[in-house]
Amino acid sequence: MLPNLLSGFLVCFCAIGAQGAVTAGQLSDLMTSLWHSDVNAATSVRVQLQGHTYTGSTSDRATSPLFSYVNDQYYFSRPTYAALLSLLDNYNHAVGSAEHTSAQESQEVTSFLDEISKTTVMQKAHDFLSQHGYVGPTWSDFETTLRQIWFATYPRHGGTYDSSGFEHVFVGETDSKGVVGFHNWIQFHLQEQKGNLDYLGYIFSKAPNTLGVHFMWLHKTKALGSFIYGTSPEFDIAMFTVCYLTHKNQHCNFSVDGHNMEVLTYEMTHGGGGHLGTGYVN
Ligand SMILES: *[C@@H]1O[C@H](CO)[C@@H](O)[C@H](O)[C@H]1NC(C)=O
Repeated sequence: MLPNLLSGFLVCFCAIGAQGAVTAGQLSDLMTSLWHSDVNAATSVRVQLQGHTYTGSTSDRATSPLFSYVNDQYYFSRPTYAALLSLLDNYNHAVGSAEHTSAQESQEVTSFLDEISKTTVMQKAHDFLSQHGYVGPTWSDFETTLRQIWFATYPRHGGTYDSSGFEHVFVGETDSKGVVGFHNWIQFHLQEQKGNLDYLGYIFSKAPNTLGVHFMWLHKTKALGSFIYGTSPEFDIAMFTVCYLTHKNQHCNFSVDGHNMEVLTYEMTHGGGGHLGTGYVN
């Protein structure tokens, strides 16, 4: 009897347990810890907000770029930023145009996941999710989940595999009405630098470093786009992954150093699996 009981006991602890409800306090402790562990955060970044605006505005309330200072050479040569940058040009931003992933592009995804896996931010997020029964205990378990959530392609509107969570959040997409997704400061800054993006004014600004902005990208309008500026790629992946797994299709409310934050993530189910449809800060 005893060996059987024992092995039953062990199996129970080795498998992914029941997914425990995560309280706002636990989320706040985790996110505050991730924030302070984000050693790759670009803390010297400066923005100039200029005019306040609203979603339906057709005028430009900001003559200068949003990002007035980013030490590109310092930050963008760091491994997780360099790996992110190599991914940004792998996508066709038009919704309705199929995504094809080349062998080289798959390798770039693997390199990105390898680089973020070395960071304390991702290790802490993994420990938290594993302790609460949302992912398995090994990095390989977590990597499988990350690929599914962020990198598996799915059809956004019609039948074409034209989108993924990563493309939507980190790269941005366009459809007949305007810009959809686009919730990352690095892409915003790079597109602004290339002359593809015109910042039109801010809609909200709150601590820590959270902005809601109105802009045009590739001559299409984004009524309200939001992001936290200065965070590392791994911080954004960790924050949205934790919110998606614990609070998908709901408010993911927490505080960072006493500042209330609200993150929304929505699931897109396709082919029997769940993917990140979108994720943004409110
Ligand atoms: C999250 O915060 C928002 C705005 O602060 C609030 O409207 C919402 O009810 C909160 N949701 C939860 C689940 O606490």
